[in-house]
Order: sequence, then structure tokens, then C-alpha cells
Amino acid sequence: MRRRPAPVAALPLADPWPLAPGLIAPNRWVVQPMEGWDALADGSPSDLTLRRWRNFGRSGAGLVWGGEAAAVTPDGRGNPHQLVVSDGTAAGLGALRRALLDVAAEAGNPTPIVGLQLTHSGRWACPTSAGPRPRIAYSHPLLDARSGATADDVVTDADVDALVAAFARSAALAQSEGFDFVDLKHCHGYLLHEFLAARRRPGAWGGPTLDDRTRLIRRVSEAVRESAPAS
Ligand SMILES: Cc1cc2nc3c(=O)[nH]c(=O)nc-3n(C[C@H](O)[C@H](O)[C@H](O)COP(=O)(O)O)c2cc1C
Repeated sequence: MRRRPAPVAALPLADPWPLAPGLIAPNRWVVQPMEGWDALADGSPSDLTLRRWRNFGRSGAGLVWGGEAAAVTPDGRGNPHQLVVSDGTAAGLGALRRALLDVAAEAGNPTPIVGLQLTHSGRWACPTSAGPRPRIAYSHPLLDARSGATADDVVTDADVDALVAAFARSAALAQSEGFDFVDLKHCHGYLLHEFLAARRRPGAWGGPTLDDRTRLIRRVSEAVRESAPAS
């Protein structure tokens, strides 16, 4: 005799998922962040972006883990059509979240937890159709050859201070648009991630110890918590 599948509500993946104090995903299905590269030239969502986020809502997933990476500054885009977080785009980003929640409600799905992922593409930045404009933590003979970076593209300590401020400002905008959290993209060789390997970078943001090389992500996390305490 064929066994009937268990009803969805009886599956462990359907159990609520406590993520943080006061933040409980209604189930354990997750939409992973995935850059769509279909934003408008100013970094605000296009109709295609909106359609994707509506489908996230239709999916029934309990956690939208950042939606997709949005650049904290225009020069941090990995593609000229990546989302950007700015005063000019914030309302459009908020509309993505609201559309997702509206569709989830229309479909009878539980209300998901929705975050926004923040990024700077660093070595792999390509912010306009003019081509790559790498910004790097340190010079690396093999990666520089691959990414077309030169020593002139190393970010200065003043640039790093501005980067921390840009993450903090973006998190505050995301919070004001109702996002439940922000995710700091710290992977795939992008700018924050590259600092983890900045052994030979002089000054405050690099050096031989793990403490030196994690200073930036700790500082960004602190600045985000200060500017957007609900994140
Ligand atoms: C087209 C594409 C875009 C992606 N964009 C992001 C992104 O914006 N942020 C991120 O953290 N990961 C991104 N990822 C990585 C995915 O979230 C995921 O971690 C990765 O694909 C591994 O999961 P999988 O084995 O289920 O594909 C992307 C992956 C793909 C294929």
C-alpha cells in the first residue's frame, strides 16, 4: 500500500524557528540571498525585481535571508544592475518587502521574517557599463591579475571609515523601511571578506593576527547595531 505523505504542518521543517530574541520565523524554509542584477540604473528595484520578491512571498518560506545583496554605495555594485541602498532607493526597497508580505498574506502563508543583505563587491566591483572598478583591501599578485586591480585600487583607511559609515547608514534605511534584520555579506571575496586575509596591510585594518583582520567586521557590526538597534 502507498504511504500517504505527512501533512505539511506535521513536518519538522514546518516548526517555528526562533532566530533571535523577538524574532521567530514561522517555519524553517529559507529563501537564500541571490543577486538578481535587474535593478534600474540608480539601484532601485525594477518590475523584474518586484516580481522576484513577490515570488519569495508566494513560496511560503518562513525566512527571507536577505533577499539579495544590495550595495551600500553605488561604487560597491558587482554589476551595473545591482540594487543600491540610498536615500533615493529606500522607498523602492521598502516596497519590495511590502509586496512580498502582501503576496504571502494573499496566498494564506504565514508572515515571513524578511531581511536585506548589505554588500560592497570590492575587488569584483563593476558599478557601471564602463567596466570593472576594483576596490581592494590589499595587493595580491594572482587576484590582481584576475581582477585587473592595481596598487592604486587599495582602499585607504579614510575609505574604510567611510565604508563603515555606509553600512551603518544602509542598515538604518533598511530598518526604517521595516526590514526585520540586515545580513552583512562577508563572503565570496567581496570587500569585507577580503580584509580577513589582509595580513600585510599596514595600519588598523590588517595585520598578522586574527584580531587585526577581524577588526573591520567587528566595527561594521557595532556601527550597524548602533544605527539600527532593531537589526
Ligand atoms: C545567481 C546567484 C546569485 C547569488 N547571490 C548571492 C547573494 O546575493 N548573496 C549571497 O550571500 N549569496 C549569493 N549566492 C549564493 C547562494 O545564496 C547560495 O549560498 C549558494 O548558491 C549555495 O547554495 P546552493 O547549493 O543551494 O546553490 C548566489 C548564488 C547564485 C547562484
